[in-house]
Formats: sequence, C-alpha cells, structure tokens
Amino acid sequence: MIHPSALKEGGLPLVACCVSAAEHSSVPITVHFDHGTSKLELMEAIVLGFDSLMVDGSHLPFKDNISHTKYISFLAHSKGMLVEAELGRLSGTEDGLTVEDYEAKLTDVNQAEEFIDETDIDALAVCIGNVHGKYPSSGPNLKLDLLKDLHALSSKKGVLLVLHGASGLSAELIKGCIERGVRKFNVNTEVRKAYMDSLSRPKSDLIHLMASAKEAMKAVVAEKMRLFGSSGKA
Ligand code: 13P
Repeated sequence: MIHPSALKEGGLPLVACCVSAAEHSSVPITVHFDHGTSKLELMEAIVLGFDSLMVDGSHLPFKDNISHTKYISFLAHSKGMLVEAELGRLSGTEDGLTVEDYEAKLTDVNQAEEFIDETDIDALAVCIGNVHGKYPSSGPNLKLDLLKDLHALSSKKGVLLVLHGASGLSAELIKGCIERGVRKFNVNTEVRKAYMDSLSRPKSDLIHLMASAKEAMKAVVAEKMRLFGSSGKA
C-alpha cells in the first residue's frame, strides 16, 4: 500500500520500484494506492501502474463523495483497476493528518446502498468505530452489529468490505470481522512501530540497522497474514 505522500517530492521512482518488485514477485502482489483524496493524485495513480486504488472522499458531503468516487471509479475501471472507497469518516491520526473525534461518523447502511449503486465500487471501507493510529486504553469499540448489516448489503451487491485501522485489534475481533464480511484489513501503525523500535536497538553499522528494521516489519506482516487467514494461499 502506498500513501499519496509518495507521489510528492521524488516519490515516483519509489512507485515504479514497488510496481516492478510486485511484477517480479513469485506470489501475486497488488500495489494499492491508499487514501487518495484529490482528483489530481488519483488521476496520477491511474496512470502510474497501480493495481487498485482507494478513493477517500469521506471529507466531502455525501452527494459530492458519490460524484467524486463515481468519476474516479469509471476511469480506474477502464484501466482494469479495482476501486475501494470510504463511506463514513474515520477518526484518529495517520501520517500527521488528524481528524477530530467530533468529525467521526459511522457508515450508514442506507447511504451505503445508494453509494455502492451509484459509484460501482468493488470494495467499501467501513467506519464502525475503527480508528487510524492507536486505540484508547479502553480498547477498540467496534460496532459488530452494524458490520453485520453492512455485510448483508455488500454481499447482495457483490462488494467486499475493508477495515482500516486494524492495528491493535485482538485475534478475536479480527475473527469476528472476517465472519461479518471483512476481506481486507489495513495495518500501518504496528508495522511502523516495529521499524522504529528496531532502530532504537544499537547495531554496529547501518547495514545491520536497516536489515534488522526490515526483519522487524516482516515479522509483523507475517503475523498479520496468519491472523487474517491469508498465509500460504498464493
Ligand atoms: P492503522 O493505523 O490501524 O495501522 O491503520 C492503517 C490504515 O488504515 C491505513 O489505511
């Protein structure tokens, strides 16, 4: 998953690198453009060779989110890309972007039906109390009943459900989300933490420092893949 910040300031070679690494991988890899908000960056993602993208119009009023998502969905589909979009609004902190709690909104099932019908998306990122970044010390408070209702709708429409903010969720919660239709989990915070923790452990030189940071991230990814039931499926 690549964040829009990668398109700025010399990030294009990084995107090319990821696309090439995925093409040469022995297992199928999707290079996904995460949280694209502006039309410009999403159009860039469409021409850069990503396999899928996320249209994040969740900051827009409902009807504007529909027209924005619909426009990008049409263009992305014409290039054979898969399209994910968010309805509702996640709270939390990610990449320095803070969305105040008061703005946080849960996904509305009736709106979701209209949104899916109008935009022709492949995957819906739901807001059921999930947050980016760290959960409060009281732990996550996911509305699993709402997720069940959204699943009833999404399976009728042939759309997959996506859960952002999956760092810090217990194995039991993950299982509950999978049972209620989640087919893609987004994890960022835990992978970054593993990297940072590893850098704080002294190493004799840069090569070892970088290698151990990479191993630390790989271990988190491997553990998440086991939890999500995707290990060994390729
Ligand atoms: P976390 O902050 O829980 O890792 O979520 C990441 C995410 O949803 C990226 O889109």
